[in-house]
Amino acid sequence: MVAVNDPSSPSTPSPTGSTSGGPAVPEDGAWWRHAVVYQVYVRSFADGDGDGVGDLPGITSRLPHLRDLGVDALWITPFYTSPQHDHGYDVADYRDVDPLFGSLSDADDLLARAHELGLKVIVDLVPNHTSDQHPWFQAALAAGPGSPERERYMFVEGRGQDGELPPNNWPSVFGGDAWTRVTEADGTPGQWYLHLFDSTQPDLNWRNPEVGDEFESVLRFWLDRGVDGFRVDVAHGLFKQEGLPDTELPDPDADGPASMVELAGLDEPMWDQPEVHEVYRRWHRVLADYDDSPRGRRMAVAESWARTAEAIARYVRPDELQQSFNFHWLSAAWSAQEFADVVTETLPSLLPYGATPTWVLSNHDVVRHVTRYGGGELGLARGRAATLAMLGLPGSAYLYQGEELGLEQVEVAPEDRTDPSWFRTKDTAKPDIGRDGCRVPIPWDDEQPPYAFGPAAPGSQPWLPQPDGWAGLSVAAQTGAAGSTLEFYRRALAARRSFALTAGESVDLLDAGPDLFAYRRGPLVCVLNAGSEPADLPDGVGALVLSSGPEPTSTLAPDTAAWFLDA
Ligand code: NOJ
Repeated sequence: MVAVNDPSSPSTPSPTGSTSGGPAVPEDGAWWRHAVVYQVYVRSFADGDGDGVGDLPGITSRLPHLRDLGVDALWITPFYTSPQHDHGYDVADYRDVDPLFGSLSDADDLLARAHELGLKVIVDLVPNHTSDQHPWFQAALAAGPGSPERERYMFVEGRGQDGELPPNNWPSVFGGDAWTRVTEADGTPGQWYLHLFDSTQPDLNWRNPEVGDEFESVLRFWLDRGVDGFRVDVAHGLFKQEGLPDTELPDPDADGPASMVELAGLDEPMWDQPEVHEVYRRWHRVLADYDDSPRGRRMAVAESWARTAEAIARYVRPDELQQSFNFHWLSAAWSAQEFADVVTETLPSLLPYGATPTWVLSNHDVVRHVTRYGGGELGLARGRAATLAMLGLPGSAYLYQGEELGLEQVEVAPEDRTDPSWFRTKDTAKPDIGRDGCRVPIPWDDEQPPYAFGPAAPGSQPWLPQPDGWAGLSVAAQTGAAGSTLEFYRRALAARRSFALTAGESVDLLDAGPDLFAYRRGPLVCVLNAGSEPADLPDGVGALVLSSGPEPTSTLAPDTAAWFLDA
């Protein structure tokens, strides 16, 4: 048995408090520490006006689903004014709602209704880059080289005799070069600007104090409206190494498809620079200003694809952000050893800072985990098992819309693709396959598209076409259906609520053989069988609480996880 966290750590508060209704909130008000957060991809959750694209009124109308599911909070992807080249991660106005999604008053209604239902709301913040339609970028283009307007972005002279070569060799995460050359007002080829993502997403210059001041003001704008937290997009990207040196490029012949995960995880001059942490110290102070507000404490979770657990943990030092996504759980293969390794590296890395871990299996940037685990019945069984193993661990779990329905990745036809990373990589040896296919609008009811996603005419397709055969997977079809994935999630979340705050933050990994990932956490024992044969349960396993598949007897079926009470 290996103890991977020290329960006596003075920096680990002992949680107590309410466990019924709304988030399980420790006495210090840090509601996020063990929360289950549900990610709403705004374009694809619920369409209130029938235009085929999800919106804020649609989300508000479907909030009871999230209450009934038993989550504590929702994170909503960007709904701000945007030309939608990267579906909202290209923001043209950080203080308004895009008409496609509604209005500021719809955002206020959503917040009010969510709070009425006991749900916290986290909004997405995109500080690494703006849209090229943002007034700052338009002003920078017009003002020309050397102007204060250009200083807000990463405008640089090119290399080569006439500046005809990009300033360095950085690749865009979405494929192709990370630099685009502009044409100056007099018609001559001019400076280059950096875009770590699409060319419509110019990177901001965080060494310019004006940028930091602007984002503090944006944070306060949404905090004053009542949001409970922020998910910080590309949190590890804001600062680039001084001098913008060339980077070591990934081996083009390495196995595996190109993806955000692969490229954004590189340990390179554009990621995870030390200066970024000063930004999060400042944001910590901004969030703390709201500690005594009527809505209670606020938080931020970093999307940081830093390379090691230690590097990720630096974002949650006590004077920085509250959480950081732990993508290592998501990247683990279906293997007892790999699951155990992620736990073993994650928990001790956070211990010095007193932060709780986060766990996630799917989001809007990666192939849905049922498909990653093999698809079909096998993938679903493994997906449910990995979910149960994740939900038993201390800390916060992030769920992605549709995983509670067991949805798989959809094969989206080339002519229906919308993802900029697809267009930038489709003609290469490694096209990005991860994103349109996990973003298809989710089915709520009915026999055919749009499956009550919105009030559009039966048979009409939303912005990304839904497949045939989703009727049986809809929320309505699965509600109350014995053995359905939706009912499994509801039961798991209800059971978790009863121990989330009391089971402590210490995990003992149990040595149960090479195929079993097994751990004890307070009164809970979780066992997952990643092997291909039924496996004997480890000693010390008491009454069954919940199984992701067939109920275990003295053995646990392959591709199944179960929770037990400690004997
Ligand atoms: C990460 C987001 O999750 C992704 O969807 C987006 O394309 C990039 N950041 C760029 O903002």
